[in-house]
Amino acid sequence: MGKVIAIANQKGGVGKTTTAINLSSALAYESKKVLLIDLDEQANATIGLGIARDSVNRSTYDLLATDTPIEHIILSTLEKNLDIVPSSINLSKIENILFNLENNELILYNKIQTVKQQYDYIILDCPPSLGIIIDNALFASDSVVIPVECEYFAFDALTQMVNKINAIQTCKKKYNLSLVIEGVLLTKLDNRNIFGYKIIDRVREMFPNKTFKTIINRSSHLQEAPMHGKSVLRFAYHSRGAKEYRELAQEIINNEKNSHQKLNLKSGA
Ligand SMILES: Nc1ncnc2c1ncn2[C@@H]1O[C@H](COP(=O)(O)OP(=O)(O)O)[C@@H](O)[C@H]1O
Ligand SMILES: [Mg+2]
Repeated sequence: MGKVIAIANQKGGVGKTTTAINLSSALAYESKKVLLIDLDEQANATIGLGIARDSVNRSTYDLLATDTPIEHIILSTLEKNLDIVPSSINLSKIENILFNLENNELILYNKIQTVKQQYDYIILDCPPSLGIIIDNALFASDSVVIPVECEYFAFDALTQMVNKINAIQTCKKKYNLSLVIEGVLLTKLDNRNIFGYKIIDRVREMFPNKTFKTIINRSSHLQEAPMHGKSVLRFAYHSRGAKEYRELAQEIINNEKNSHQKLNLKSGA
């Protein structure tokens, strides 16, 4: 059964899309079947994986606003084992369309049920906002990766994001659904700047068991790869950025192994 992971932080420019693309690709390189759902109207994840805007006929807009089944929207990418639900600019209309609908936070959760068996991981690239789309993403997800840029203004957004996750956790309990923080991911570290390391220390103090060991450094390969429509793994497999995202994928795979082991211990298996 596919594990659903949202990549979320309402602050823009912190590395959500970069993480969504490259974590998906790194998991796919580990022979996991991965589906990336692009929930941002800017469609950066879609374009970054080499899918041209004008070649997208159906998108996450159709997924959320119409009864089109997800199977009719999924496209394969040039990355092995990686499929995508592309986004398009009409997703910007979604808040108005869904506003008055009852249970409008459960649409994505319901829509992905039919394909969960086919994938090991479903990764959601979230928009930089706290509206209906993020509610849908968090209801549909088992866990959240929160990318945090190693800079001072990171903390406000991080606190708001955690409050949002707590609120959704409370709502999900009513449906017997859970949501955990997979981890806080420190991104865009400039290793010439001592200040970045102070942010790392603060975040590790705030989330001692929930900060990924992997830190994503600033890298030109990570910036350049999407311009070629490729993940950094396909663009420059031996680059530092590719190595860091492979390490992150490994941490996430290990998290899952550890939680299965704990469950087995509890059940005596
Ligand atoms: N580790 C990194 N090193 C260098 N540039 C990065 C890195 N991560 C992201 N970027 C760049 O920062 C900008 C914002 O990143 P993006 O992933 O689109 O953030 P978000 O989805 O949170 O808005 C993009 O131009 C991207 O190429
Ligand atoms: Mg983005």
